Amino acid sequence: MGLTEETCRTLVQTAAEARKNAHAPYSGFDVGAAVLTEDGTTYSGCNVEVSNYSEGCCAERVATFKAISAGHRRLVACAVVAEMAEDPCGPCGACRQVLRDFGPDMDVVLGTPSGEVLSVDPLKELFPMSFGPEHVLASIRARHGKG
Ligand code: THU
Repeated sequence: MGLTEETCRTLVQTAAEARKNAHAPYSGFDVGAAVLTEDGTTYSGCNVEVSNYSEGCCAERVATFKAISAGHRRLVACAVVAEMAEDPCGPCGACRQVLRDFGPDMDVVLGTPSGEVLSVDPLKELFPMSFGPEHVLASIRARHGKG
């Protein structure tokens, strides 16, 4: 969607800062994320792991849910920062779905803990043929005869 280099850098820096608060005592894999809303507000998050292993949450979803719970509904970008030794890792499948629901046209920015921007890709390319709110809403409308 045409993020400026400056916006990408700032988002990555915000995600890198959030990563410092990662609570990942089990995996040891610290992640930070920062989402940008359509009105230009940024929310950050880190991964939070819990002792039963299954109820933790990824950084991207923490950041997204912070934005949504503050009243936003549309995201235009998400930066993700992890220790990417070789290949940069993109958001996990579950996070791609959540990002898609609130930002189908968003860009995903990957970066390093030192604030370097590694890549910028449209979510649509990372998550093709996706399912989204419009599919469910169209089906509900059809069932209720509202076309
Ligand atoms: N993690 C994220 O926070 N984001 C991702 O996109 C991939 C994985 C977290 C979840 C878990 O706390 C740790 O990284 C290892 O999987």
